[in-house]
Amino acid sequence: MTVINEVATLAVEGEVAVLTLNSPPVNALSAPVRDGLALGVKQAMANTAVKAVVLICEGKTFIAGADISEFGKPPKGTSLFDALNAIEGASIPVVAAIHGTALGGGLEVALTCHYRVAVPSAKCGLPEVKLGLLPGAGGTQRLPRIVGVEKALEMVTSGEHVGAAACAEMGLVDALVDEGKLRDGAIAFARKIVAEKRPLKRVRDMNEKVEAARGKPEIFAAFRKANAKRFRGFQAPESNIKCIEAAVNLPFDEGLKAERKLFMELMTGTQSAAQRYVFFAERAVWKVPDVPEDTQTIPIAKVGVIGAGTMGGGIAMNFLNAGIPVTIVETKQDALDRGLATIRKNYENTAKRGRLTAADVEKRMGMLKGTLALEELADRDLVIEAVFENMDIKKEVFGKLDRIVKQGAILATNTSYLNVDEIASATKRPESVIGWHFFSPANVMQLLELVRGEKSSKPVIATSMQMARKIGKIAALVGVCPGFVGNRMLAQRQREAQKLILEGAMPWDVDRVLYDFGFPMGPFAMSDLAGLDIGWSKEKSSSSTMREILCEMDRRGQKTGAGFYDYDAERNAKPSPVVEKLILEFAAKKGVNRRTISDDEILERCVYPMINEGAKILEEGKAIRSSDIDIVWINGYGWPVYRGGPMFYGDTIGLDKVLAKMKQFEGQMGAEFAPSKLLEKLAGEGRRFQDLK
Ligand code: 3HC
Ligand code: NAI
Repeated sequence: MTVINEVATLAVEGEVAVLTLNSPPVNALSAPVRDGLALGVKQAMANTAVKAVVLICEGKTFIAGADISEFGKPPKGTSLFDALNAIEGASIPVVAAIHGTALGGGLEVALTCHYRVAVPSAKCGLPEVKLGLLPGAGGTQRLPRIVGVEKALEMVTSGEHVGAAACAEMGLVDALVDEGKLRDGAIAFARKIVAEKRPLKRVRDMNEKVEAARGKPEIFAAFRKANAKRFRGFQAPESNIKCIEAAVNLPFDEGLKAERKLFMELMTGTQSAAQRYVFFAERAVWKVPDVPEDTQTIPIAKVGVIGAGTMGGGIAMNFLNAGIPVTIVETKQDALDRGLATIRKNYENTAKRGRLTAADVEKRMGMLKGTLALEELADRDLVIEAVFENMDIKKEVFGKLDRIVKQGAILATNTSYLNVDEIASATKRPESVIGWHFFSPANVMQLLELVRGEKSSKPVIATSMQMARKIGKIAALVGVCPGFVGNRMLAQRQREAQKLILEGAMPWDVDRVLYDFGFPMGPFAMSDLAGLDIGWSKEKSSSSTMREILCEMDRRGQKTGAGFYDYDAERNAKPSPVVEKLILEFAAKKGVNRRTISDDEILERCVYPMINEGAKILEEGKAIRSSDIDIVWINGYGWPVYRGGPMFYGDTIGLDKVLAKMKQFEGQMGAEFAPSKLLEKLAGEGRRFQDLK
């Protein structure tokens, strides 16, 4: 065996040379890996006894892509293009032996190999679009030459990983080899090719499939139209489509140039910077500095949920989906029956859409037990409370749980705003208490805010993180404060939205600006969807806010056909002349002189106070890092991922600009805009939230 460099070795086995890469954790295409590829192939070819090369990786995966952490830094070592040309231009066949995931630049390496074999568990994909990019090393030009235009369009714009069997079916993989026997299988395959004197299959020269789509722009037009909603706001999907068009309409080398140009545009833009930042943020969020990965965890085999309302039902479904039995407790039989029926209905609807079988539905329902007796939670390892948002009730429930549930179990509350420490004080084991703040619908929304109480123990935190992952959530650990991270920042936006419609904007103006910014919907459309009467009481209502006025008129949102908007039978929203009149009257009553409010002001008034509140959250240590706050907003509130979250957005605009605006607003409108100390400090030092360590 010859050592090529610190990550590559070459072993000659008869007529086959095996070039092995070993660059943990994922064999990303760092400079040493690129060097190793180019040098390894060259060295193999220098040996005249060698008739074929197998390219294989150690560790858990084949090359998982370019080294994202190198992006934006000065180039080093062999360029990826030179490495790829060394492979594709080799005078003997190179066979890629794939296990784990061949992603992005990794699949592009495999596409320059002359043949590809894989184990059945392997997956291939071009996930660059998820980083706001496109495959920049020939992937968009080579992939359609093998799989055809339609499949290539889907793969590059979705970024999804495709299983080895499906890859084999579409010709992306030439042969499957036995699981666990990749090296031997690949060597045998290489020997076969040599014996059969098979030609060097260079994907760049395979033109049949791209020529078939030439002169058919309707393929692309239809694809764009069908996916317009999915791609809204994102630049990368369109650039990816343009590259596939180039593959169809231009000679290979011209297509490569077009790909390069579009790649560089994306790479230097803010969207990709945001999406790459989110990639690392999603991984950092799981790390808790004082709770190391080897912290002891508590085995969770049985879960209890208290309250079978909107949240309790959804929470229970998460565990049932993960195969964990749940007992759900209610106070009254009819509430329990309603809750269980809703869960069943949700599963049956999923089954109707073909995403579950009837047997799956029964299996899940079979693991769910409803009861009116809290005592039945005695043997649970984890209990999540989702009763009414009322401190007295929550404390009573936790006092009872303390007496009933076995020691060592985790006692969690799904409270949205209440003080977790006060709830914990109702027990003699506050170390076992933690907040598990799900987002509605709890079985759908990915975010889970884990609220660390003053006394929550490390095993309780570590287990909560582990369980969150197990049920498919993304968890951010936050501290106790009113509304925690997400709702605390949301309150800033809500306040400004309400003020703006008094001062001169209309609800649909505010909604349009935030929709165009990239949110799935604006705050008023959101309120109509959720129901304006959440937390509203007829008895206490005194026409003191627009919401009260609307509820008093029975305009309670989509469910009553009217709220801030008017709705037709299909629930399409239309700006409401009635609401417009009501707002004008209400503003007049309040003595507000309405004025024209620009879209820029709407955006700045809604978003900058959120950034400022995020800074306060950091200052108070209620979030571990600014990127955790961004994760909360992306996964819990639909903040557009291509803007990286509110804190990243603040960094992108420049904290000095955010600060100046906050000061201006403070001067005009008062203390609500007072800048946080951290914002002042960072802006003064010319630093960003991202620079905080
Ligand atoms: N570059 C740099 N670091 C990477 C990386 C990459 N491409 N892919 C993963 N890592 C790092 C992660 O940050 C993580 O580091 P940490 O342990 O310090 O947090 C570590 O590798 C392990 O990653 P995961 O925790 O994600 O491990 P999993 O086993 O869950 O997943 C994976 C493995 C499926 C390979 C996943 O990491 C992944 O999807 N990676 C990104 C793949 C990708 O997007 N490739 C395209 C890159 S862009 C490109 O190739 C451009 C080209 O066209 C020119
Ligand atoms: P809900 O009113 O739909 O459900 C609460 C259920 O708890 C009711 O079915 C009620 O009968 C039951 N209940 C009340 N006291 C009980 C007791 N002592 N024992 C057993 N069951 C009892 O309320 P929802 O919306 O599900 O909220 C529950 C909790 O989740 C609240 O703390 C809320 O703040 C929080 N939350 C709500 C979100 C939402 O969007 N609805 C989002 C995130 C958290």
